[in-house]
Amino acid sequence: MEIHVIVVILWLWFIPADVSDLGNVGSFLTKNKRMIKKKYRPIYHITAPEGWISNPTAFTFYKRQYHIFYQYHPYNGAWEHTNWGHAVSDNLVDWIHYPTALMPKDHYDRHGCLAGSAVVNKNFLTLFYTGHIVSGRESIQTQNLAVSGDGMFFQKFLYNPIIRESPNGIGEFRNPKVWRFRNIWYMIVGATSRERNGQLLLYSSDDMFNWKLNGTLVNSYGDMGDMWENPDLFELNGFHVLIISVQGIEADGWRFRNLYQTGYILGHFNYVKGQFDDMEVSIATFNQLDYGHDFYTVKTMSAIDGRRLLVGWLGMWESDFIESTFGWASMLTMIRELRLNKNGRLLMTPVEEVTDLREELIENAWYKPGEFFKAETKSFELIVNSTSVQSDVVLILEWNFGGYTVGYSSEHGYISVDRGGIDGVRRAYWSPVDHVHLRIFVDYSSVEVFCGDGEVVFSSRIYPNSMRIRIAGDSEVHILQYKLRRSVGFDNNLEQRIRNHLINT
Ligand SMILES: *[C@@H]1O[C@H](CO)[C@@H](O)[C@H](O)[C@H]1NC(C)=O
Ligand SMILES: *[C@@H]1O[C@H](CO)[C@@H](O)[C@H](O)[C@H]1NC(C)=O
Repeated sequence: MEIHVIVVILWLWFIPADVSDLGNVGSFLTKNKRMIKKKYRPIYHITAPEGWISNPTAFTFYKRQYHIFYQYHPYNGAWEHTNWGHAVSDNLVDWIHYPTALMPKDHYDRHGCLAGSAVVNKNFLTLFYTGHIVSGRESIQTQNLAVSGDGMFFQKFLYNPIIRESPNGIGEFRNPKVWRFRNIWYMIVGATSRERNGQLLLYSSDDMFNWKLNGTLVNSYGDMGDMWENPDLFELNGFHVLIISVQGIEADGWRFRNLYQTGYILGHFNYVKGQFDDMEVSIATFNQLDYGHDFYTVKTMSAIDGRRLLVGWLGMWESDFIESTFGWASMLTMIRELRLNKNGRLLMTPVEEVTDLREELIENAWYKPGEFFKAETKSFELIVNSTSVQSDVVLILEWNFGGYTVGYSSEHGYISVDRGGIDGVRRAYWSPVDHVHLRIFVDYSSVEVFCGDGEVVFSSRIYPNSMRIRIAGDSEVHILQYKLRRSVGFDNNLEQRIRNHLINT
């Protein structure tokens, strides 16, 4: 009798929006354990337990653990019905899937809980998110809040929405970024002006529940697209770094080649005026964060040791997601660290903890152009060093019917990747010092290329079968190859923890 009640309650916890076939926690876990083996599925990148993952929605540290939330929809839910998925880690490398944090089932969010941010305040973990509803042809977006005392179960605020409409009445109004400075809470929200240019709005609050509009924080003059999503703002080496994800910028040579772009602008935010002293947002000041084919929207956080950490979506809207036939789609990037160099360029490198993924050294040798070696595994890291910056370095990851070429041109001072097809090339200016140094991470169907100290990064999806690596160009290179281990999965004790939670509440 009692057991039945518990099973029913567990079952309720896991029902996404309007779906009822997931069964109880037990079958949720077995089902998802089967998902782990699906074709092309990575082993050390965060995916959804099943179904789709897109934007990270929040990234924070709470009760000695890192928490990543992301837009998630299980396959049997409609696409717009975005949930907040949740994964947790002690060390930034090993992640376990947690139950869905937010489900779109209230009158203000029934067509989706969209990205926002998380803050930790007085022992509580608070999530800010955008509720999305569609009524007729109109889309309405509001800002909302949910709270947790244990980092696993979240309660939506009874008086949601906390911000009920955009100041100009236009429905594009989302992704609250919230932080505190000297006892005042600040919120930036992405929006569209009446002229249909991207803009950011600034709100402030004494208690994080009652918000008042301060004004337009940043406007664009027309060359910066029509919508700025997922704003992030933080201090780094005496600057404020503003990150936005922009829809509607036109390609400009080798810049902005993807459908949408995530990039940054440096400035100084003035808390007295509630304005930037010196922020000019245009395609001249806006720098892409990542030059690969599949990278859009990020969340950052400050680690206790002061590092600025970033996670992004290793995906792009309207791409193919070949794996979706196998019941899952897309993934997040590895966790990266951001630093600013003396030229004001944001550097992005994998966090040092990723060396913990190394399981076995497979390759440690010099290779000449024309030589090749087999990738012994589907999840590996390559460390590539040349001896000078005077000659071209080219590496081709190749497989039956496809390939991914990474090439540094010394004459032109750029580095490119090419995954084939009509729009396969992505390119960025790069001037390495001393020699060419690359770290390349492959995980079944993704590749991330970090150049030098992280001046240029490319993140792309690829769909290889067995792969070999061929050296081209005209430079001899030293290669280290490590086999990397699985680090994302399910926790067998999760079911017990959920039972305990339910018994205690
Ligand atoms: C915006 O914030 C600044 C700094 O706190 C303040 O001086 C200004 O009066 C605020 N403006 C509005 C309209 O609230
Ligand atoms: C490759 O280059 C990097 C960066 O310049 C250096 O730190 C590393 O020790 C080099 N590795 C090898 C095996 O030469």
